[in-house]
Amino acid sequence: MISLLILNGPNLNLLGTRQPEIYGATTLADIEAMCQAHGRETNVTVSFDQSNHEGALVDAIHAARGTHDGIILNAGAYTHTSVALRDAISAVELPTVELHLSNIHAREEFRHTSYIASVAIGVICGFGAAGYPLAMDALTSYLHTSK
Ligand code: DQA
Repeated sequence: MISLLILNGPNLNLLGTRQPEIYGATTLADIEAMCQAHGRETNVTVSFDQSNHEGALVDAIHAARGTHDGIILNAGAYTHTSVALRDAISAVELPTVELHLSNIHAREEFRHTSYIASVAIGVICGFGAAGYPLAMDALTSYLHTSK
């Protein structure tokens, strides 16, 4: 069975109350429940995690090696700043999907730069919480075809 790590970065623990006009009213717990349900329907095991700390996210990416088949990463603001997260993804060599609730390309200029995108197999952004199951399907189909 395919096993995915869905990793969420800073401030995503506040989903539901944080700028709902941008990020929607769905909480991170709702999103996790959605991903677990989608995993049961599609025969995929899901581990779901969140941290506000860059080093903890690096540790979680390292721990995924040998445990999970791929990573879905919503790195939040670290997307636009973190060479450490980018290097962690390169180091573990696990296929990774970069994910964002909002369309980062339709927002402020500083959000148009991603340190993650060029080491990811693909990027999904702009579809709100629905992006999570979309990313699961995209990564699962990548894993089936690359095996
Ligand atoms: C985000 C987009 C980032 O620019 C922002 O810093 C976030 C959330 C998103 O899911 O839309 O924290 O990753």
